[in-house]
Amino acid sequence: MGTEKITPMEPKYPSASKTVMTDLVLPSDTNPINNLFGGELLARMDRAACIAAERHSEQVVVTASVNHVHFRKPVPLGSLLTLEAKVSRAFGTSMEVFIDVWKEEHEKRAKEKVNEAIYTFVAVSKDGIPVAVPPIVPETALEQERYDGALRRRQLSLILAGKLKPEDATELKALFS
Ligand SMILES: CC(C)(COP(=O)(O)OP(=O)(O)OC[C@H]1O[C@@H](n2cnc3c(N)ncnc32)[C@H](O)[C@@H]1OP(=O)(O)O)[C@@H](O)C(=O)NCCC(=O)NCCS
Repeated sequence: MGTEKITPMEPKYPSASKTVMTDLVLPSDTNPINNLFGGELLARMDRAACIAAERHSEQVVVTASVNHVHFRKPVPLGSLLTLEAKVSRAFGTSMEVFIDVWKEEHEKRAKEKVNEAIYTFVAVSKDGIPVAVPPIVPETALEQERYDGALRRRQLSLILAGKLKPEDATELKALFS
């Protein structure tokens, strides 16, 4: 009486969330020295990562945190920019998403990695309340490596957001012991 059964969700693979977006860098996307504007890249990554998180969770998602962005190389006007986003780990209601970015410059047309970023999304109901997401099972060596590091990155992000005390970040502390 009154005991509600919670059915565990079927785990999914990172490949189920894989999202690839290719687009041009146009004049309105650039800074005064004709390279892609950082904020434009952040927005494109947010869009690709959002789709990946929605594919994994099959829910509406919101960006909870931008955990890491590394602008390694400039992306000139006229380049083709390809973004690949995949969920690397799912927790209760949140998901870590990796975004890898490559450019193909107008004259060269060889793909070169320019950027990597890690965002966190939370699946929410229509009222914006966090809802549970399926677990994830890594398949490749890179997926496993990203999965393994996700708990540390989550703890760091929660400390920075003031939601976790540093002394409770056991995984993170283990890195330095
Ligand atoms: C993200 C949001 C839904 C979290 O809601 P909340 O009531 O704070 O919920 P909680 O603290 O219980 O956190 C819910 C989940 O988010 C995770 N989370 C919250 N803040 C986080 C952060 N800064 N980094 C990583 N994960 C975070 C929690 O760890 C928890 O994950 P879990 O269920 O997998 O354990 C809420 O803060 C929100 O709606 N923010 C605005 C989102 C938005 O509008 N984004 C677009 C900006 S333009």
